[in-house]
Amino acid sequence: MSRDIHIESLSVTFHGHDLIVDSELELNYGRRYGWLGLNGCGKSTLLTIISCRELPIPEHMDIYHLTREIEASDMSALEAVINCDEERMKLEKEAETLAADDGGGGETVERLDRSYERLDALDAATVEKRAAEILFGLGFDKKMQAKKSRDFSGGWRMRIALARGLFMKSAILLLDEPKNHLDLEACVWLEEMLKKFDRSLVAAAGIIAQETAGDVRIYDRYSRR
Ligand SMILES: Nc1ncnc2c1ncn2[C@@H]1O[C@H](COP(=O)(O)OP(=O)(O)OP(=O)(O)O)[C@@H](O)[C@H]1O
Ligand SMILES: [Mg+2]
Repeated sequence: MSRDIHIESLSVTFHGHDLIVDSELELNYGRRYGWLGLNGCGKSTLLTIISCRELPIPEHMDIYHLTREIEASDMSALEAVINCDEERMKLEKEAETLAADDGGGGETVERLDRSYERLDALDAATVEKRAAEILFGLGFDKKMQAKKSRDFSGGWRMRIALARGLFMKSAILLLDEPKNHLDLEACVWLEEMLKKFDRSLVAAAGIIAQETAGDVRIYDRYSRR
């Protein structure tokens, strides 16, 4: 049940170009990685390879890959964040059905206990508060949190998608240029939030030529350990 990923020799070729040649990739659980490199060097491609599980990622590790904005719908920003949590919603429904089942006997009670235990583990009672805090940090005041997602621009719906990723706490969180749609205040908040992220995080960012030796490298910048 290891949650560390270690690939000794990784090569990626895309449309005839060698993007990554015979490189070592190590993603350790609980660490935060900044994936820096020149534009076009293959950062987004590598994140997609990870999220499509083309590398040997353990099945029990769920992945959230921030690629695009949430769809425009009648859901409010807050609902859009909360409703992404499929396991919790399924458990809540199941618990409701089990609680209504009077004649189920011991087995029903046992299953209900298990559902409640799991819901506790998922911190179900505080979902709304947690989702609201994340949205607030990303620039959504109370009024905006209640606004329909269809009334937001693509950039703001991208922020909602980012809020989802932070809320879900998947085992692996992949953020591709997360600062692109944020203003300075939200960027500062995001940095503080990511410092506390206790699963595996890879954040990709393009850099200009002078700042790099020319190679794609994985830095441990976000961990500072
Ligand atoms: N659909 C495509 N068809 C052909 N080539 C592509 C396609 N998508 C990406 N590429 C090429 O693959 C390479 C890697 O692209 P990728 O988007 O992964 O780089 P990146 O490091 O994320 O760049 P950026 O910093 O601009 O986001 C680039 O050379 C790009 O031109
Ligand atoms: Mg990219």
